[in-house]
Amino acid sequence: MEATLKVKEKKWWHNKVVYQIYPRSFYDSNQDGIGDLKGICEKIPYLKELGVEIIWLCPVYQSPNDDNGYDISDYYNIMAEFGTMEDMQILIDECSRNNISIMMDLVLNHSSDEHPWFQEARKSKDNPYRDYYIWRDGADGREPTDFQAFFGGSAWEYTEETGQYYLHTFSKKQPDLNWENPKMKSSLFAMVNFWIEKGIRRFRLDAIDYISKDLDNNIMGNGPRLHEFLSELNRNTYGKRADTVTVGETGGNNPLTARMYTKPEHHELDMIFQFGIIDLDGVRSGDWSPKPYTLKDIKEVLEKWQGKLEPDELEGLVLNNHDNPRSVSRYVSNNPQFRIAGAKMLATMLHGLKGVPFIYQGEELGMTNIKFSDISDYRDIETLNFYYRKATEGWTEEKIMEYIYRNSRDNARTPMQWDDSKHAGFTKAEPWISVNPYYKDIHVKQCLEDHTSVFYHYQKLIRMRKDNEVLVYGDFRMICTEDEKVLAYVRTLRDKRLIIVCNFYEEETQINIQNYGTGKVLLSNYPGTQTDLSRLKLRPYEAVIFQVETVSL
Ligand code: GLC
Ligand code: CA
Repeated sequence: MEATLKVKEKKWWHNKVVYQIYPRSFYDSNQDGIGDLKGICEKIPYLKELGVEIIWLCPVYQSPNDDNGYDISDYYNIMAEFGTMEDMQILIDECSRNNISIMMDLVLNHSSDEHPWFQEARKSKDNPYRDYYIWRDGADGREPTDFQAFFGGSAWEYTEETGQYYLHTFSKKQPDLNWENPKMKSSLFAMVNFWIEKGIRRFRLDAIDYISKDLDNNIMGNGPRLHEFLSELNRNTYGKRADTVTVGETGGNNPLTARMYTKPEHHELDMIFQFGIIDLDGVRSGDWSPKPYTLKDIKEVLEKWQGKLEPDELEGLVLNNHDNPRSVSRYVSNNPQFRIAGAKMLATMLHGLKGVPFIYQGEELGMTNIKFSDISDYRDIETLNFYYRKATEGWTEEKIMEYIYRNSRDNARTPMQWDDSKHAGFTKAEPWISVNPYYKDIHVKQCLEDHTSVFYHYQKLIRMRKDNEVLVYGDFRMICTEDEKVLAYVRTLRDKRLIIVCNFYEEETQINIQNYGTGKVLLSNYPGTQTDLSRLKLRPYEAVIFQVETVSL
């Protein structure tokens, strides 16, 4: 089969990897226990060593921190704990001198209830800002509808001042902005342009699929005007420049809607995140109940998405972010013996795919989940709400904590582990959230000293994308589809062919892929990987990228 598909337009960022920073937990430069912008600046050499060229910062704007920065009270200012606008400018310039660009988080679906717009809006029905938000009368003394907020409870909150309710998809301190109001939209566009003028060229659009709603028909997200709004945003802001890159957080998507967002002629977004794998186990479902799944389900997700992408269509590839537990704890056996091989296997699986891989801070060390015994050690609003809700429903403490250990977003939010000194070298003060007790074994210093570390595996994968166009533009084809232990796929571009093989389990296994050619090992997470593809033995979590020399597909 000759791969004839062609990319319409190659872009410089197609072969890049994005590194996501959770500023609060990255590095504390002034010893107050909270990560900050200067801290990020100090760690640029580390990012360069890893090889990433784009860093996405979770929100750094002024915020009362009900949802750690995703509740913004001033889009034009920096959160005091993180530093000043001057520090931000220094970070932008310093990164750019080092060939790293900054992706900012745009939270456009909601603001903080402490934002002056909302403070005004709540005052009276005829306030000029009233329509910046979404208001309804109650129904028979109750909430207007039974919409549930993402973090639990009703999505409607009553205000005394006018006797009406406002809508909040997330916490009650995150009132939803009303995109049906042209003035509100222009205010947001002006703000985005402000950041573009400051030199920001990359944006991650938070919860962007919620901006259009049809409340009369019970539609909270993916509403009828979503694509119209997005293209309006594009045309008025980042779309005016050729050097911008955007990625959308678009939960309820499918390959068809993905195309709507990213088709260049639609002028909406460059990429969207695809959460197909992350969504399988129920961790991010509203009620947190575990859902059983097998490797077959993962294969189906990849088949459904990767198998159908058009040549110039790229997904934002993720297994980890600030809203999810650590991938190595989630997808690999809890036996610490397999942590390193498992972390490298997951990395190989993801970076072999078509798209732009996103690494979440600490993933490149193989950082793991936490199990704090006391709820008072947790910080995340979603986790705390879950705890108190379930306690009222009569769940035992033990059961609640078990759910929290598995699902809590705080699993990913503990401080970055820099060395084995107190608080993992993140701060000398008491950190805003405790460090993961495993930091003595898992930290940057150790990783940098050990050439077999997870870090260097990521470094190789990042470099490999730059050196192998086939990883960027190659066609995707799943093989060994019926195998229950091994995930394997082929990437093909003209006469170049790579086979990516991943043993997803802690048992040894064997596959036969000789039909696809004879291979040379480009990368493996074990020394001495076999090359006889007819009887390929794979050790626990072994993952290999083969460059195929003779092809008979
Ligand atoms: C997104 C963010 C998440 C936040 C939510 C509300 O899902 O990733 O952290 O809580 O939006 O802004
Ligand atoms: Ca600090």
